[in-house]
Amino acid sequence: MLEFSVKSGAPEKQRTACLIVGVFESRRLTPAAETIDRASEGFLTAVTRRGDMDGEIGDTLLLHGVPNIQADRVLLVGLGKERELDIRGLVKATRAAVEALHHRGTSECVSHLTEIDIRGCSLEQVLRQSIVSIEDTLYRFDELKTDKELGPRRPLRKVTFILSNRKDLMEAERHVREATAISNGVRVAKNLANRPGNLLTPTTMADYARKMTETHVDLQVEVLDQSRMEALGMNALLSVAKGSSEPPKMIVMEHMGADADTPPIVLVGKGVTFDSGGISLKPGPDMDQMKFDMGGAAATIGVMSAVAEMQLPINVVALVPTVENMPDGNALKPGDVIRSMSGQTIEVLNTDAEGRLILCDALTYAGRYKPQAVIDLATLTGACLIALGRVPSAVLSNKDALANELIQAGENANDRVWQLPLWDEYQDQLKSNFADMANIGGREGGTITAAAFLSRFTREYDWAHLDIAGTAWKVGDAKGATGRPVALLAEFLMKRAEQASVGKK
Ligand code: BES
Ligand code: MN
Ligand code: ZN
Repeated sequence: MLEFSVKSGAPEKQRTACLIVGVFESRRLTPAAETIDRASEGFLTAVTRRGDMDGEIGDTLLLHGVPNIQADRVLLVGLGKERELDIRGLVKATRAAVEALHHRGTSECVSHLTEIDIRGCSLEQVLRQSIVSIEDTLYRFDELKTDKELGPRRPLRKVTFILSNRKDLMEAERHVREATAISNGVRVAKNLANRPGNLLTPTTMADYARKMTETHVDLQVEVLDQSRMEALGMNALLSVAKGSSEPPKMIVMEHMGADADTPPIVLVGKGVTFDSGGISLKPGPDMDQMKFDMGGAAATIGVMSAVAEMQLPINVVALVPTVENMPDGNALKPGDVIRSMSGQTIEVLNTDAEGRLILCDALTYAGRYKPQAVIDLATLTGACLIALGRVPSAVLSNKDALANELIQAGENANDRVWQLPLWDEYQDQLKSNFADMANIGGREGGTITAAAFLSRFTREYDWAHLDIAGTAWKVGDAKGATGRPVALLAEFLMKRAEQASVGKK
């Protein structure tokens, strides 16, 4: 965890181990860089003229011995073409800067990148993106390494952002606190999702959620165990757990920041702690990645951490149905018909389409809260990766205004979603000769038919579904949880809180 602060002041006067200033293409100095250049009698222009720094985005150059300034070093960071610099460009440059510094002797730095005007971007966004992306860049999951990955001797600990305007200071300090809460939520989500299936089970996830009430007094947590769920008729959820020796849980977290009679927003996170596919067993390669199949649950718990830390004045309920999906003599079988909590029957044609089975009962349970909206987040379909790749999450909704709100929040939070249609025509793919519906709709439009299935359990309220199969974790060398979509949902809830308080006045 780093320490972030804001201040205003002249670059040449900053007493720091490292001063960070930007350079645009081609070799155009930002105002802060220009000031340093003037103070140092052309030191920076001499360097750029030699061709060491053209301003290409993400390029960095560390300078020692810059005369007539208070800082020990200056880090030049390329920002690309000035006209094209957007929030993603700032994130890229910020990541590069932090990576360049982290392995040096700089435990502290002062950045002037936050002074730069970025097209269509508020100071809030600039600060939040800076902080969230720095924390993301420096995150490591090393709790299971014996020799903690030999990190730098003096890691980066403290970052100060310079503001161009003194009068923004108070507001900026609030943005820093909010961004820190969001970063902490993202870290919670990453730590949970990165834990392997033998350590993160439905039981240990429930324990983790319970423990959060120790640090967040406003948070209430209740865990429904198997017998409670049996009494409630959650047979769809329970059927998935049958093949595992790990008992299922339904984690219920409540943050009541508004009046008790204000309808809550309910978040529902898919918590399959390991998805082997069950009897419809998945192929071997990459099956380890199915430990991330609780990414929706992890993000839901991460969002609750952020909401609680910010003490948002709204009511938010998190429902986390959590199970392990395994093949076994007692396991659910293809062809089995189960009766969900809603009363609707489901023919299970594929036990690997388990996410929707645990979600449908949680969505029915959500109706009890008479919610103002329900948002579920789930690593639900491989088809989502085929449709959209790993850039946006998919959003499908029975209410366009809600989908639009999420799209906008994703834009603002740089945690984007892309809408897919949820038209009636897709429902035909779920027909069954033996039950009210089948749990799969064939290969075509797999992300949509999964959402179409869920929509049969969400008729009573405004609902949106986020398929995060492509965004919850990264593969390859950087394999690991991303913490998405914590930032998106935090932004969404902050906006809802703002609207509610405006409505009251
Ligand atoms: N957890 C998977 C979806 C998934 C697969 C996410 C790969 C990320 C990467 C889900 O439970 C699943 O297995 N879905 C099936 C559905 C199919 C049987 C209709 C899928 O996508 O293959
Ligand atoms: Mn599955
Ligand atoms: Zn799954």
